[in-house]
Parts: sequence; C-alpha cells; structure tokens
Amino acid sequence: MREAMAAAEVGDDVYGEDPTVNALESRVAAMLGHEAAMFTPTGSMANQICVQLLVPPGGELLCDADAHVVTYEIGAAAALGGISSRTWSAAGADIDPDAVAAMVRPDGYHAVATRAIAVEQTHNRGGGGVIPLSTLESLRRIADRAEIGLHCDGARIWHAHVADGVPLERYGALFDTVSVCLSKGLGAPVGSLVVSTRERIERGRVLRKRLGGGMRQVGVLAAAGDHALTHHIGRLADDHGRARRLAGALAPYGIVDAGRVVTNIVPLDFTKSTVDAPTLGAAARERGVLVSVLGPRVGRLVTHLDVDDAGIDRAIEVLTDLLG
Ligand SMILES: Cc1ncc(COP(=O)(O)O)c(C=O)c1O
Repeated sequence: MREAMAAAEVGDDVYGEDPTVNALESRVAAMLGHEAAMFTPTGSMANQICVQLLVPPGGELLCDADAHVVTYEIGAAAALGGISSRTWSAAGADIDPDAVAAMVRPDGYHAVATRAIAVEQTHNRGGGGVIPLSTLESLRRIADRAEIGLHCDGARIWHAHVADGVPLERYGALFDTVSVCLSKGLGAPVGSLVVSTRERIERGRVLRKRLGGGMRQVGVLAAAGDHALTHHIGRLADDHGRARRLAGALAPYGIVDAGRVVTNIVPLDFTKSTVDAPTLGAAARERGVLVSVLGPRVGRLVTHLDVDDAGIDRAIEVLTDLLG
C-alpha cells in the first residue's frame, strides 16, 4: 500500500485533475452500480453530504437511535444542514419496516416532512449486524411510496457483502446515496466516498468544498484506497472467522452472545459480569490487548487486517485470564 501511494500519479483534485482520484471514484461507482462517486476525507463527511443531498433544511431524516449519523457526528445534520432527525428505538440490524413506514410524515405545512430514511450496513453499535436484504427491499418500497430518499451508511458495506454474499451492486441499487469507507476494515489510512447519481455528486462537490473537504494532490490517499479495494475485500472473511473464534472463547464468561457475531465486531455486555468494561479494558491494555470501552457495562472487540491468528490466541489468553 505504501508503495502504491508513493507511485501515485497526482493532480489538483479541486479542479478534478487528479487521475488517481478520478479512477478511484469511477471504480467505486461501478462497484455499487451507480453513475458517480466522490472521494471525501472521512466517513462522517461522506454521510453528512449524503444526508444534505437528500434532506433540505427544515426537512426530517429518520434513522435508528444508535446510528452513527446521529450518534457520533456531533449534531452535524442539525448544525450544518438545518436537518431535523427522528429515530426509531435502536435494535441494530433488526429493523421493523412497518414501524419505519408508520413514522414517515407526509409533505405539508403542519408537521415537519420526512425527506429521507438512513440505515447503517453493517451496524456499528449493533455489533456488526447485517441488515437482511429483504428488510432493505421493504425500506426501498416504503421510500418509493413516500417519494423520499434512502441513504445507506455503508462504512462497512464490504463486510455485509462478504458475510451475506449479497453483490455490492445489489445493495447499491437499493439506495439513493451510499457512503463507503476505505479506512475501516479495508485498512487504508484515510478516505471515504459518496456514491450516487451524477447530478447528486455534482451538487455534493459543492457541499464538500463548503465543508472544507476539497483536497489538492490527494491521489496519494486514493492510491491507498485503490490498493485496499483490490487486496483487502476478500480477506474480510478471515476477520469474520477470527471474530467468531474470539466470541466462542468468551461466551462461557457470559459477556458475549456468540450467535450474534457475524462480521468483525464482537460486542461485549458486562451487565451480568462481576467485572465492568473499564476495569477489564484497562487490565487488558496493560497486557497488549485493546478493548473498546463504550460505557460502564458495554465494550467491543474488533478484528482487522493487523490482527492475525496468533493475535487472537493472545487476546483469548489474556481476556479469559482476566475474566476467570
Ligand atoms: C458506521 C460508521 N459510519 C461512519 C463512520 C465515520 O467514519 P470517520 O471516522 O471516517 O468519520 C464510522 C466510524 O467509525 C462508522 O462506524
């Protein structure tokens, strides 16, 4: 990847003249069966551009209460886009389309009008769960009936594709906008893309510039993303297998529901444990195992391309020792 970055041909992307960025954008658009794509520095910026493309100021976005777009993006939809958001109770990848349909508010001047629905595939706080294709198809029908947009925060859509075998274009066809990340499981140092129609991407370029995301010789980063797409999608199956192995080893300690681990995230629930998440996290860190602590009784483990089988053995040894 570093060699690809060093060898990248670059130009000024603010003028659309960086050949490596242009090639990456075309590649990712084609992978998802869309007309166009646009490189952004972060997944958060990609999400916010998508949301602003679908929801005008004063309009409403529906999503679940744990969605990244309303949890970790520091109120950007409201602060920067003037967008109102309403959430359904978070249940990760388990979505009840009828309940979502019942939330959609029609256009008019009495109530805030719903303009888009957003989903997250795979679901980060939902423990890497994969939303079933049939649920996404139902949401598409609901969005069509209501004439509103459907956005996918696809930071880890690659993981869903590998876990469920659903072709990326099949996912792409269901959404008006998709954001994808190169910097999560795919292992690039930075970078995301917005994927949509040519017309939306043209408008998206204005929004990106307004957010300060117009970058110059950024082909060095696009080259890393291109390398990741070529070499690191298929191998996500290894990360999923390692996450399952980790979950299986920790299940007897009552902090993991191993049956729910389907991708690279192992959610930890300490509600029935004598140890809490911060205590375990601190002790594990001292022994070289990083646990993400999300609350007093909530944590997670993530497998990725820098954790091999020996690393999983080590994590199991340390964590079972601390839990036992
Ligand atoms: C589901 C999801 N969407 C978007 C993002 C945002 O990505 P970034 O950190 O590049 O802004 C993340 C980051 O963890 C994520 O998990």
